[in-house]
Amino acid sequence: MKIAVIKERAPNERRVALVPAHVSTLIAPGVTVTVERGAGESAGFPDTLYREKGAEIADRQEILASADVVVTVRGCAGGGFGSDGELAEMKSGAIIVGQLAPYAPHPSFAALVEHRLSAFSLERIPRITRAQSMDVLSSQANLAGYRAVLLGALELSKIFPMMMTAAGTVVPARVFIVGVGVAGLQAIATARRLGAVVSAYDIRPAVKEQVESLGARFVEIDLDAGETESGGGYAREMDAEFYRKQQEKMLEVVAESDVVITTAAIPGRKAPVLITEEMVAAMHPGAVIVDIAAERGGNCELTRPGETVLVNGVHILGPENIAAGVANHASQLFSKNITTFLETIIRDGQPTIDRNDEIVAATLIMEDGVVPDAELAEQLGLPAAPGTAAPTTEKE
Ligand code: NAI
Repeated sequence: MKIAVIKERAPNERRVALVPAHVSTLIAPGVTVTVERGAGESAGFPDTLYREKGAEIADRQEILASADVVVTVRGCAGGGFGSDGELAEMKSGAIIVGQLAPYAPHPSFAALVEHRLSAFSLERIPRITRAQSMDVLSSQANLAGYRAVLLGALELSKIFPMMMTAAGTVVPARVFIVGVGVAGLQAIATARRLGAVVSAYDIRPAVKEQVESLGARFVEIDLDAGETESGGGYAREMDAEFYRKQQEKMLEVVAESDVVITTAAIPGRKAPVLITEEMVAAMHPGAVIVDIAAERGGNCELTRPGETVLVNGVHILGPENIAAGVANHASQLFSKNITTFLETIIRDGQPTIDRNDEIVAATLIMEDGVVPDAELAEQLGLPAAPGTAAPTTEKE
């Protein structure tokens, strides 16, 4: 069996799915690892390091024609691997493992069907203890939270810590984090390390304790929201009236903040708008918004994905693919996630699709050109195999 590491081609993608340190973990009797020439270069892993660990280096065409399993950071949609017709070059029955954006139809999903390929989408890893070391969303969100704070700090014309100097005293910056999932928690910790006074808010009241344990203030917004959490610990999508009230109540905190970092997401949906134009107008000139949800439509009404805009003196950053900005460590963590996942599906040197394993059942979006459940098929804009129920998972 040949595991192949493809060079990422999505715009601004600098990560690689497998780093040299994990190559030897995967090599076994009958199992080889082949890396596309230069695949790890932009993340700081030259071909020589892969060779030292026992990998072969090859050109893309050769890899596509011979791989049994292709690992990729971003595949199918979003300009990632296979989104430009090259799935036709793969052997039928081959498997793709990576982040495949299985939230909306894309022509590459139809190509998976046509060429009878199999695919695992790692965004769908269930939030159970056994799968934690495979959770790519968490490993990358953690880095995104860290980096968002640095981006905000550099854009702000103030410093984060309090400083008492002979030339006078400067007060610490006030940072407000909206959305306290994995990225938000890391953003709180990073802003605190830099000396800012940090407050945070999340729709899920359960995070209050975590916010306070990191030394930040939890902003209480009494909205009588009812159930805010869905399966897997994710936030539920609320109605328009809820978001309107939330915006109204957040206005005051946003207006007094130097940096606002927004991370609020609803899995598979457009990000909710939490910061309106009116709220931006209430901020002081020089203030900064870093909208980590930019790629998913943005939490700020004025965010432009991939750009920094200046509105009434407020800098609004819409960074895309923020984890790729720290490509070396992001690849290292992603690689650990994907290696643990591969160890789950490789048995006796062969890829084995065992749908009784809940991790396999949750992540499998295509088996030999067939979508395994009806709900997913609809999401991908494809016909489904009749009579198969969607997998259910529980958060631990
Ligand atoms: P996410 O990336 O889906 O969303 C980020 C945050 O935005 C979430 O905390 C969400 O509640 C919040 N949010 C959504 N709508 C909002 C609104 N209108 N206003 C304010 N905040 C809003 O979340 P992420 O990072 O994936 O984490 C979700 C939960 O899952 C967390 O409790 C996390 O600790 C948990 N988790 C559990 C894992 C496991 O059990 N293996 C692994 C990773 C995370």
